[in-house]
Amino acid sequence: MAMNLNNSKKDKINKGLKMWEQAKKLIPGGNGLLSKRPERYAPDIWPAYFSKAKGVEVWDLDNIKYIDMAYMGVGTSILGYSDNDVDAAVKTAIDRGINTTLNAPEEVYLAKKLVELNPFAGSVKFTRTGGEAMAVTVRIARAYTGRDKVAFSGYHGWCDWYLAANLSGENKLEGHLLPGLFPKGVPAGLRGTALPFEYNNVEAFKELVSRHKDIGTIVIEGARYSLPSREFIQVIKSVAQENKMVVIFDEITSGWRITDGGVYKKIGFQPDIVVYGKAMGNGFAIAAIVGRHEVMDAAQDSFISSTFWTERVGFVAALATIKKLIQNKVWEHLIGVGTKIGEGWESLAKKYSIKLHVTDFKPLITMKFEYDKLNSAIATLFIQEMLKKGYLASTSVYVSYAHTNKIVEQYLKSVDEVFAIISEAINTDSVYQKLETKVKEEGFKRLT
Ligand SMILES: Cc1ncc(COP(=O)(O)O)c(C=O)c1O
Repeated sequence: MAMNLNNSKKDKINKGLKMWEQAKKLIPGGNGLLSKRPERYAPDIWPAYFSKAKGVEVWDLDNIKYIDMAYMGVGTSILGYSDNDVDAAVKTAIDRGINTTLNAPEEVYLAKKLVELNPFAGSVKFTRTGGEAMAVTVRIARAYTGRDKVAFSGYHGWCDWYLAANLSGENKLEGHLLPGLFPKGVPAGLRGTALPFEYNNVEAFKELVSRHKDIGTIVIEGARYSLPSREFIQVIKSVAQENKMVVIFDEITSGWRITDGGVYKKIGFQPDIVVYGKAMGNGFAIAAIVGRHEVMDAAQDSFISSTFWTERVGFVAALATIKKLIQNKVWEHLIGVGTKIGEGWESLAKKYSIKLHVTDFKPLITMKFEYDKLNSAIATLFIQEMLKKGYLASTSVYVSYAHTNKIVEQYLKSVDEVFAIISEAINTDSVYQKLETKVKEEGFKRLT
C-alpha cells in the first residue's frame, strides 16, 4: 500500500511510531493493553504516545494536539483528563504519604460509600485492575457456591478463569468483544469450567444451563452496546434462584455511565455482586467488588491478598471521582452527548448514503459500518482522515464530562467532511487506494 503522507507530516508522526518500534522489541506485545496498540487504529500514522493531556485534549510526542473523540483512556477518564478536583485530592494524598505499615482510612470511607450507593450490598473488596477484580470475584463466587462452572457473556479480562473458555480449541470467545484470545499457558485442567453464552439471547442461555446443571456462577456485563432486555434479565433471575447460582454484574465498563453506579440499577435487578473499575478513579487505578455480605464473606475462606490493593491513591481518586459524578449527575451529560453523537453519525450517514448501524448504549456510543469485509478498511479511512483534522477518532466514543456540546458540534462538522470522502471511496471502489496506512487490526493477535 502506498504511503503518500507528505514529508513534514511523516517526520512529525514518526516520533511516536519510532518509540512503538522500540517498545515492541522491549515489551512483548509493545505495551500492557491491547486497546492502546496503534495497530488497532491506523497502524502507520497513529501517534501512539502522549506527552500530556487535559480535558479532552491530548498532546503527542511531537507536541501535536488532538481532541480525543475515541477511547478517553480506554474508558477510564469519565470526567476528562487531569481533572482538577480529582488531581488535587490525589496530590494532597501524595504529600501526606500513600503507603505505610498501617492502612489508609480511605479504604473504609470508599467501602462505606459503595455500600451506600449499592443498597443490596454489605461488603466490598478492592483491587486495582478490572481483570484482577473479576478473577477475585469469580474466586469468591466459587468459594461460596462450591461449584467450578461459570456461565458468562461478554468480556471480563485476561485471567485464566475467563480464557479457559477457549481451551476446547474452538474460538468460543469470538462473539464476546475480542476474537482470537488464545489460551496458551492456561492450564488444560480448566477446560469446561467457563461456558459462554450470547448476551440477550434467552434461548442460548436456557440451553446452556439445561446442559450444565452444575453451573454455580453467572457473569454478564452491565451493558456494552445495548442494555440487557427485560426477558433476558428475568430468565437469568429465575434460573439463578432455582439453582442457587450467584449472579455477577461486571460493570467495569458500563458503571457510572447511566446511573450513580451500575446499569443494574436502571433495570430493576439485584445481582449478588457488582464489579466496578475503569471510570471509578478517573484514570487512577482502582476497582471494587461490591456484594451481598453472605456471598462476599466467602472471601475469608480463600487467600486473596495483594500489597498494592491497599495503596492510598486509588481510594482517594475514587472518592473524589464519585463525589463529582454524583454532585453533577455526570451520567445525564454522558447520555445527552452520546445521543447527540449517535444522531449526528446517523444523519450524516443518511446524507452520504453510507450503510451504518449505531448502537444503543449512549455513553459508549458506537457505529458499525455495514460493508462486510470492507468494514475495517472503511473504519481505518475514517480514523486516518479524522487524524488529519486533529482528532483521535474511532468507531466508538467513550463520552466524558469534558466533552461539551460545542466540541461535539465541531467534531460532527469534521465527520461530515470525512463521511463525504468515505462515501466517494465506497462508490468508486477506492477505499484501499485512499489509505495511507495498513488496515487496522481487530481482535487479538501476535504482533509482528
Ligand atoms: C466488562 C469488562 N470487564 C473486565 C475488563 C478488564 O479490565 P482491565 O482491562 O482493567 O483489566 C474490561 C476491560 O475492558 C471490561 O470492559
